[in-house]
Amino acid sequence: MKIINISYRLPLSVKKQNTKTVFTPSSGGLATAVLSYTQKSEQKLTWVGIADFDRNTWENHKNEFEGNFEIEPVYLDRRLNRNFYNIFSNSVLWAMFHYFPSYMEYNEAAFEAYKSANEIVAKRVSEIYEPGDLIWVHDYHFMGLPKLLRKLLPDAQIGFFLHIPFPNFEIFRILPSKAKRYILEGILGSNLAGFHTWDNVIHFTECVEKLLGLSHRNFVFSQDTHRTRIGSYPISIDFEKFHNAYDKPEVAKLRSEIRELYQDKKIIFSVDRLDYTKGINNRLSAFESFLKKYPEWREKVVFLLVIVPSREEITKYGERKSMIEQSVGRINGAMGNYKWSPVVYQYQSVEFDKLIALYTSADVALISPVRDGMNLVAKEYVASRKDLRGVLVLSLMTGASKELQEAIAINPFDKELTGYRIAQALDMDEKQQEKRMRHMQKYLAKHDVFRWATRFLTDTIDMHDHDNKAQ
Ligand code: UDP
Ligand code: G6P
Repeated sequence: MKIINISYRLPLSVKKQNTKTVFTPSSGGLATAVLSYTQKSEQKLTWVGIADFDRNTWENHKNEFEGNFEIEPVYLDRRLNRNFYNIFSNSVLWAMFHYFPSYMEYNEAAFEAYKSANEIVAKRVSEIYEPGDLIWVHDYHFMGLPKLLRKLLPDAQIGFFLHIPFPNFEIFRILPSKAKRYILEGILGSNLAGFHTWDNVIHFTECVEKLLGLSHRNFVFSQDTHRTRIGSYPISIDFEKFHNAYDKPEVAKLRSEIRELYQDKKIIFSVDRLDYTKGINNRLSAFESFLKKYPEWREKVVFLLVIVPSREEITKYGERKSMIEQSVGRINGAMGNYKWSPVVYQYQSVEFDKLIALYTSADVALISPVRDGMNLVAKEYVASRKDLRGVLVLSLMTGASKELQEAIAINPFDKELTGYRIAQALDMDEKQQEKRMRHMQKYLAKHDVFRWATRFLTDTIDMHDHDNKAQ
């Protein structure tokens, strides 16, 4: 028996760098979490995803891949992929599900492309499926897939997990009727549908009840002989990996370099993909308001702002980049001087050791999404602080804030209060820091990515077996 793991993004890409062809890791929480699980799992796994490289490149280099799982790239026609990924997935679903309805750019061709892509992947999965396999479908790109697979493989064990928020009924209803029905019926093809939080579970069940007229019993929907359980499964991280990375010699070296560079300053740090949901501009405004209100902190603090390129072909992402760069320029221009830049900005991804060195050098992690399903960065920051130092300032609009109760909570829309919270975080004494970190680490050590995946997969199998016995 194997797991067939399906996500739009494969965990790696194959790219030409100068004359060499190299594997580069994919960005984002889904890739981090599922990859962490596969690295320590003994379970045979095949990862199906959409290739962002061409067939020849893969065929020529696939033998160099050293992971403990198989990769099964699906190649989509460029135009189809554009309509499927850029438009329907990211300019309709991502926008709507993160409560940005005014950003939605719906068109029929894009919806048709979404359905076609789901069908192409369903066919590919049915070709590699063997009886007894467990199918794990991830995220908003493939919400039609469970139903399509159920038709092709009626007895299959299928789990669906959504990595982004599921919006409330008032937002979801804005989608055209056929898209709404396709999504809800699609997800209900699974044995288990998992979400990050109970809020999302409630939103989904309410949409099913109101739009499909079905009712649930203890969060189980029944249709003929098939049943779907709906549950909350907060995603997490490989706690040990982040915690132990503190002591790696490479990390320690990078950390002392960073510390030396900013030796007379406190460091505020953030890292996100460039995305309008991450509240990066709100964060910069709050930092600006903090510097205005507390001038005594000028030249004594630096904000290291790392932004990872993402979805660059989509207009709203390009616009956001310009807005952020203008804000950085404004703050540095107005408040900085020849000795001090308040914001140090990087628009590039960072590799693991550097990321840990940054997490473990930062006095404050400032995480301010205006909407986020979970936010793994918050969990990674806490886990990596083996020294029990540092303060997490975290938006209430993230799934993570429901679990990380000892963070300083902020409403990212309230820049004045966030400015005050930044000051409070910078002033927090070491005893308080230690107490809060200890609590959060204890929680994360128990609620890690392995628990998340194991609970989800076991519940999928249980639900499937229970159904089959009942027949
Ligand atoms: N990350 C990354 N590349 C980087 C820096 C960070 O892939 O250059 C990782 C980070 O460690 C985290 C993930 O990207 O695991 C971001 O996950 P999160 O849930 O915070 O947000 P998402 O990007 O999934 O919306
Ligand atoms: C979020 C989504 C993932 C996605 C990731 C990176 O975490 O939930 O499905 O892979 O962002 O975005 P990208 O569009 O580059 O795959």
